Amino acid sequence: MQKHTGICIIVSILLSMSIVNGDQQTTLNLMPIPAEIVLKDGIFRLDESFTLKIDDPADSRLYQAATGMLRRLAGRTGYFMPQDYITAESNLENPQIIVKTSRIGELKLFEDESYSLTITDKQITLIAETDIGALRGFETFLQLLSVDQNGYYFPNCVINDKPRFPWRGLMIDASRHFMPVDVIKRNLDGMAAVKLNVFHWHLADDQGFRVECKTWPKLHELGSDGFYYTQDQIKEIIAYAADRGIRVIPEFDIPAHATSWLVAYPELGSAPGPYSMERGWGIKDPTMNPVNEFTYAFLDEFFSEMAALFPDDYMHIGGDENNGKHWDANPEIQQFMKDNDIPDKHMLQAYFNKRILKILAKYNKKMIGWDEIFQPGLPTDIVIHSWRGQKSLIESAQKGYMGILSNGYYIDLIQTAQYHYLNDPIPEDTPLSAEEQKQILGGEATSWGELVTYETVDSRIWPRTAAIAERFWSPRSVKNVDDMYRRLEVTSFHLEELGLLHLKNYDMMLRRLTKDHDISSLKTFADVVEPVKIYTRHHQGKKYMSYSPYTRVVDAARTESMTARHFSKLVDQYIADPKNPDAAELILQLSVWQENHRQLVEIIKVSPVLKEIESMSADLEALANLGLEAAKALAKNKKLKKNVVDASVVLFENAAKPRGQVELMIVPSIRKLVSAASN
Ligand code: ACM
Repeated sequence: MQKHTGICIIVSILLSMSIVNGDQQTTLNLMPIPAEIVLKDGIFRLDESFTLKIDDPADSRLYQAATGMLRRLAGRTGYFMPQDYITAESNLENPQIIVKTSRIGELKLFEDESYSLTITDKQITLIAETDIGALRGFETFLQLLSVDQNGYYFPNCVINDKPRFPWRGLMIDASRHFMPVDVIKRNLDGMAAVKLNVFHWHLADDQGFRVECKTWPKLHELGSDGFYYTQDQIKEIIAYAADRGIRVIPEFDIPAHATSWLVAYPELGSAPGPYSMERGWGIKDPTMNPVNEFTYAFLDEFFSEMAALFPDDYMHIGGDENNGKHWDANPEIQQFMKDNDIPDKHMLQAYFNKRILKILAKYNKKMIGWDEIFQPGLPTDIVIHSWRGQKSLIESAQKGYMGILSNGYYIDLIQTAQYHYLNDPIPEDTPLSAEEQKQILGGEATSWGELVTYETVDSRIWPRTAAIAERFWSPRSVKNVDDMYRRLEVTSFHLEELGLLHLKNYDMMLRRLTKDHDISSLKTFADVVEPVKIYTRHHQGKKYMSYSPYTRVVDAARTESMTARHFSKLVDQYIADPKNPDAAELILQLSVWQENHRQLVEIIKVSPVLKEIESMSADLEALANLGLEAAKALAKNKKLKKNVVDASVVLFENAAKPRGQVELMIVPSIRKLVSAASN
């Protein structure tokens, strides 16, 4: 054990979090990075005598979380620690970690989630105002577990932490593809691990109504194809989330995105019907009728039931993408607009929203909706959920409304973690005053469900959402992208440990694609491709329906190729100095790609589903050949031959074209190598 020297190291958030701490090289893998962390000399050495004591009014959530934390610690270290389930009766003489809280936290907006964690050679204390704060502290504590030749330890430190934003969410669309209870639970575990606190559950849309409804039972009977959550399952998930300090906010998207409701109750619709279940994607016409009193009577009973089922203060009413076509085509609606001086569909929707607002208020719910719902005159306790951009968020904040941001956090667009990470709910150049900035509550990552199934949803959410979680929790100045990626990789493994399938399912999906043959060559290929970006998948080739296969290479491929990212770093280093210590790694990587196609074509012969990527695999080989030539030329300080450079133009052009809806991510790096070797 080191002696205290009195020197402490304040972790500079601008530098990589890798610090020489006494004899230890401490590499902190915290995500999100705490608001304030002071590393001290010395360590707390973990051994099998480790025990925990809770100093708290009896609170089952905290005891359960503490027990879970100890099990995870034991699981990671293999230590046989002495404590069984921790209860208020677990009174210990010399606990190494003491947890103190003052009260049970409420699952409400602005609840205190702060905590202080102090680690010294002999003693650890975790102090929090609420048990929810203590839960956040447990996650930090687990992330601090470090290792050296002598075993496991925690670096001595003082952490004072609290979130930057009170609303840190993940939205999961369970309508377009149903997401079973297990999917939701493991994603709640992932959310808790990175300190997210709002689970926004998109439960009804054109393609499915996913909640058992007792007042209007045809909703789930006819609007769900049998895939819905029973009320018992919903209660179970709400309790599971509450145990993790996570609020659950349901979304019932109205008046548009409502086909499944209208299949069950066509009398709610603006067109005569009948309606049939929507199997495709995009903005659809079926819309509730805002001038029919039945609509409000129906929704009054509906929200009365749902308000009792979902305890959160907020109810999300969607409100997005109403194309107004069925309103335009309905003479009664048109007449109503004339009679009431309602000039357009936006004002008609504002009328509808005001009626819904009254219903929600009756059941003690506050309203949240997508930014289309924003109209002056609404009460200021509503929350505007911006999906269309910063502009609407800024406008509503300036008018005194609270808002959250999802624009820039659409994880279904298959953008990089870096892109989402650097998207700030309140950017440095914000035009908002300090007072107005307080109206920005945070944001939500959105996992829309068109192109994901229960098999792939984890890999579309994680690990990128951990980077978004850091954006919502940590100070704005925390934005070192390379260090984020370093920590994201570790976080990804920790998320897997919690049961998320984002890593595991990759191999499973590749095995299915190779018809259970050796996956290594397909993996080498899949490691350097990414699905096409934004919503391009909908506009290339076959039309996707809800029942289409989501099992191809594009679905198995990760959203972001870390192999390609790493390779681009190797290329930069190589161009700067072909004798750099990692040069051999670059040559080895190129050699692996050079050999890969030969093996993969044998697999493709017996697995026709892979035909669509065969020519891209051949391009990978050609690029590797070219890269090796360029690397050789650079090492010898020679120029590539003109005919080689000329031939590369066509190769680059072809290799950059998506096939099978994936893109080959190493093209720019090889281009860079060739360019360096031809100048
Ligand atoms: C949305 O993406 N239409 C909220």
